[in-house]
Amino acid sequence: MAIEQTLAMIKPDATARDLTGKILARIEEEGFKIVAMKRLRLSKLQAEAFYAVHRERPFFGDLTEFMSSGPIVAICMEREEAIVKWREVMGATNPENAAEGTLRKLYALDVEKNSCHGSDAPETAAVEKAFFFSGIEML
Ligand code: RTP
Ligand code: MG
Repeated sequence: MAIEQTLAMIKPDATARDLTGKILARIEEEGFKIVAMKRLRLSKLQAEAFYAVHRERPFFGDLTEFMSSGPIVAICMEREEAIVKWREVMGATNPENAAEGTLRKLYALDVEKNSCHGSDAPETAAVEKAFFFSGIEML
């Protein structure tokens, strides 16, 4: 099976509660290799650009306010079937529906403040990686 990359984020609710280390440890325990990583605070405009696919959704304003409310950690990481595997480790978007042991079950506060992000397909992973990292940062 081919090695694949995905883009993860540790969201502001999690950095605020000092969960960065625990989430990074879980990433490594699950067999992901961290390729590139940076911690930064998104502006509202940057959060709107990142989540542009959700522009028409009713939660777009709240989501982009939240995502620009504090620091995030963006991580480019790889393993076999990284995209699907990371979404399994995160669990369902709404922590009420997330399986036991998943990051969102463990840490999420609600459907919005759900602690982590993961790309949902190879095409979005490519766009999201390029949003945060230049080519020479992902070697
Ligand atoms: P993500 O993109 O952050 O990995 O999450 P996801 O695929 O599981 O969920 P998605 O549908 O892409 O939604 C993106 C993020 O928007 C917030 N959200 N709020 N208030 C709401 O009903 C609602 N629904 C989604 C969450 O932060 C979600 O992760
Ligand atoms: Mg999504």
